[in-house]
Amino acid sequence: MCGIVGYVGPEPALSRLIEGLRRLEYRGYDSAGVALLEGKTVWTRKRVGRVDALDQALGDAPESTTGIAHTRWATHGGITEENAHPHCDGSTGLAVVHNGIIENMNALREQLESEGVVFRSETDTEVLPHLIRKFYTGDPVAAVRSALRLVNGTYGIAVVFADHPDLIVAARLGSPLVVGLGDGETVLASDPQAIVELTRRVVYLDDREIAVISRDGVKVERLDGRKRTADVTVIDDDAYGVADLQGFPHFMLKEIHEQPESIQRCLRGRLQLDEGNAKLGGFQMDPRELVRIERIIALGCGTSYHAGMTGAMAIEALARVPARAEVANEFRYRNPIIPRDALFLAVSQSGETMDTLGAIQEVRIKGGNVAGVVNVVGSTIARTAGKGVYLHSGPEIAVASTKAFTSQVTALMTFTLMLARTRNLSLEAGQRMARELSAVPAKVSEYLHNPGPIEAVADTILDARYVLFLGRGFSFPVALEGALKLKEIAYIPCEAYPAGEMKHGPIAMIEEGTPVIFVAPSDVHRDKAISNMKEVQARGAKLIAIHTAGDHEIAALADVSIPVPEVADFASPLLTVLPLQLLAYHAGVKLGRDIDKPRNLAKSVTVE
Ligand code: F6R
Repeated sequence: MCGIVGYVGPEPALSRLIEGLRRLEYRGYDSAGVALLEGKTVWTRKRVGRVDALDQALGDAPESTTGIAHTRWATHGGITEENAHPHCDGSTGLAVVHNGIIENMNALREQLESEGVVFRSETDTEVLPHLIRKFYTGDPVAAVRSALRLVNGTYGIAVVFADHPDLIVAARLGSPLVVGLGDGETVLASDPQAIVELTRRVVYLDDREIAVISRDGVKVERLDGRKRTADVTVIDDDAYGVADLQGFPHFMLKEIHEQPESIQRCLRGRLQLDEGNAKLGGFQMDPRELVRIERIIALGCGTSYHAGMTGAMAIEALARVPARAEVANEFRYRNPIIPRDALFLAVSQSGETMDTLGAIQEVRIKGGNVAGVVNVVGSTIARTAGKGVYLHSGPEIAVASTKAFTSQVTALMTFTLMLARTRNLSLEAGQRMARELSAVPAKVSEYLHNPGPIEAVADTILDARYVLFLGRGFSFPVALEGALKLKEIAYIPCEAYPAGEMKHGPIAMIEEGTPVIFVAPSDVHRDKAISNMKEVQARGAKLIAIHTAGDHEIAALADVSIPVPEVADFASPLLTVLPLQLLAYHAGVKLGRDIDKPRNLAKSVTVE
């Protein structure tokens, strides 16, 4: 999604802005641009495509120590140079970069056009520089504040003014912004990832706040004029770091192979093997509060929703607390009932997904209880929830989520253990569960060292018109996740179904040679899964089975057998998802796809 970077300081701004944009590339975008202050005007340059294309077009850029830059993921208006940011007012006296959507842009545009303003782009953003110019009488903050009063929608903006060469004005409503404090220099970004190399001392902006950024630091006010102290947070978490491939050809493959370590980090210091319990202090709930929870509702999108489904199944099965997962945006807009005795879990890697954020805001407005299950420390969802568990997966750069999924599931299983111990889980059963969880990283590593015939399976599905993923119980969300990965990375048409539901429709899609990927570990559903395998085979399907090592019956039945190490039923998704991640990866590579930045996708989806 769109990214913002800004710099004010003693050094040339351009190199810092471009470096910041490069660190945001992983989020997905389709054009990029920069604005630098030059004498009495603002100099801009924009290019469609990668930051490299912009960088190559900057030979004549002025020396400037103040600037803003942007990567755009198109929403309003096509992918063109005119629509790329920054956008200027008619006299190029000011420039704006913007993340979010201005919902009343048509009315504002009509009004401005009737006043003689000429628009150069099709974007919603362009109303902002013209509105700010309209209200500008020499005071940048007053002009931005007046303009924003007329705007409906969401924004994170940065504005530079030609006649205030050492200043950036930023404001946020619904789109994150963070200010980094350096030594005599100050930086701004929509994602701390862009600035952590320069400084780890940051001030997060909250909604309806405006920031005045200069070399000396930042002053933050509410949009309504009230003052607030700019509390400084020091980012010392490993969720941000150097985006380094470390010899892997793609971040996705690197992140798949990081899973033994990322799962281990998620468990570290949390499992209490002797007590058969888990300690998740971030939930800020003692056993007396935990025992009052009568239901759990996990909210998330995409992969995080699949992790939420897996967690909800474990909570019901092991803690015997009614639990379910909901797609965050569907939940948000149906005027949901928020039970007083429920705990809502906001599951998100980035902590910035607008749909999930909107859902938990709705829960909070209705007085509900929310905790985050989030990777990025200090992200908006983590701060809005105010409590919960961090995943400690480290930075996930590939657009397709892999290690975040296994860490989310791990964190939810750990929470399940803690919750179950406040109910009917015995000491012995708790000790067993804690031991089983602690054994997972080694099993994941064992599988990744011997992944089975994944590349051969990839070859067989490259030309498939349709691939069906099936699973029962804990393996159904895994099937969903496998299909999502294959769509995202390889663009191969596929869908996932609960295996028992397959005969109610999707079975009609099966013809001679249709690949059916069956997730069938040796759990309570295994025998029924075998019946379903026979049903699809009888109709000509090519059966690819992911099963527990040592299950000779399934191995013999399948056309291709992919064994994974044996683990407890509830932990099976942490193993069975691995071959599906690798399958999507290898299919994508063989088809020449852009693995880490698949078409149309963004790493963190900050618009609705
Ligand atoms: C899938 C993927 C997306 C995200 C979804 C939620 O590989 O990356 O489906 O899982 O956009 O993002 P987060 O977890 O950041 O809230």
